[in-house]
Amino acid sequence: MKIEKSVALVTGANRGIGRSLVASLLRSGASRVYAAGRDPKALEPVVALAPKRVIPLQLDVTVEREIEAAAKTAPDVNLLINNAGVLASYNVLSSSQAQVAQDFAVNFFGVLAMVKAFLPALERANGAAIANLLTVVSLASRPVIGGYSASKAAAFSLTQALRPELKQKKIDVHTVIPGAVDTDMIRAFPIAKTSPEVVADAIVSGIERGAEDILTDPMAEGAFQAWLENPKEFERYFGSL
Ligand SMILES: NC(=O)c1ccc[n+]([C@@H]2O[C@H](COP(=O)([O-])OP(=O)(O)OC[C@H]3O[C@@H](n4cnc5c(N)ncnc54)[C@H](OP(=O)(O)O)[C@@H]3O)[C@@H](O)[C@H]2O)c1
Repeated sequence: MKIEKSVALVTGANRGIGRSLVASLLRSGASRVYAAGRDPKALEPVVALAPKRVIPLQLDVTVEREIEAAAKTAPDVNLLINNAGVLASYNVLSSSQAQVAQDFAVNFFGVLAMVKAFLPALERANGAAIANLLTVVSLASRPVIGGYSASKAAAFSLTQALRPELKQKKIDVHTVIPGAVDTDMIRAFPIAKTSPEVVADAIVSGIERGAEDILTDPMAEGAFQAWLENPKEFERYFGSL
């Protein structure tokens, strides 16, 4: 879909990839961007990017009434970017059930609830898109973050379930797969990372091109290719890291 003159909503817009996405959408000519976040104060610098075009929305994607209120406040959305995410659990055996549940609450159920709530707006737009932020560990588990991987694998399956259904409603559904990105989420991991600005630009241009699977950086491209060629080998490799 065309980004110019689009009306986008980005969840988790106050920092990391979400904040860079707002900036990238503005540069690409979106007429309005709803910047959604849990803490309205933390959204102030994002609104300052373009006060007439960025509208702050208080939104925790695990709170049903906040989702419903957001859908009422933003009835003109034609691009929904489900970016909000958490890495609350690590190894599946040593993480608590509550930590794993938190990953699923945000990374899976939050995405599903947002899609359902915004579906009427996206249908009305008669040409719309949804982009779900997944990860290379949606493709195969990295046991060190096995709980998070499981929640993102579930979100990958959800994205696949939505794509054919929403095609009939003229809504493109994008799988967004970043590799390691330099944000708070993986601050503690000493590995090579891509900047959130580069990742955000890749997402926006992938949506514009209509790419089903948006691979945002070289690590993601390499992982996706390896997974396509030999999923079992890829599983073994990630399992050994
Ligand atoms: N960083 C990576 O290497 C990487 C790689 C692949 C995919 N991803 C995915 O990319 C997305 C963005 O991650 P990031 O790297 O930008 O992480 P980040 O810097 O930790 O930002 C996460 C964002 O999600 C928000 N969030 C968390 N729980 C929420 C909830 N219940 N309701 C609404 N918002 C919530 C956070 O808001 P608060 O400030 O209120 O906590 C924050 O805005 C996530 O889906 C992540 O899984 C990241």
